[in-house]
Amino acid sequence: MTITAVGCQANERMDTMKKRISTVPFKGTPEQEAKLRAVIDEKKNVEGSLMQVMQEAQEIYGYLPLEVQTIIAQGMGVSVEKVYGIATFYAQFALSPKGEHQISVCLGTACYVKGSQDIIDRISEVLGIGAGECTPDGKFSLEACRCIGACGLAPVLTVGDDVYGRLTKADVDTILEKYK
Ligand code: FES
Repeated sequence: MTITAVGCQANERMDTMKKRISTVPFKGTPEQEAKLRAVIDEKKNVEGSLMQVMQEAQEIYGYLPLEVQTIIAQGMGVSVEKVYGIATFYAQFALSPKGEHQISVCLGTACYVKGSQDIIDRISEVLGIGAGECTPDGKFSLEACRCIGACGLAPVLTVGDDVYGRLTKADVDTILEKYK
């Protein structure tokens, strides 16, 4: 019972992070667009296939920028608002690409209690992006994650495969500096 309640709190923390359209310039290739249009042609007359097309588009591009949402909307005969609404509602869809360095801050209970929100806030302040976003130069992306099983090191963040624990807000600048 307690475990479920704790899990729900973590989910709520993640859910409060709103997705925003990426400011990273779109770099889709003609090959990617041809693949997406082939998927649309195959599925456009299949009822209820919009989400599947969006999933396949995300596999092709890695995320769903507005340009891709527009191609999907036009091809599937629905409004861009509808595609955008689905993309923002379901956690599985990303509106920003992954950065060269992917920063992930644990918002699981142990880390949250030890101040991981301050850590994520400081990263946002330094990089100018929120969770789920990527810096315009494509260098860093930031996300919040659930427990990564290193609670003894709380609060924890990872940059790619590197793990940093027992963090204070003051550590953030030093860590980011290493990847600039
Ligand atoms: S809660 Fe952060 S590693 Fe477990």
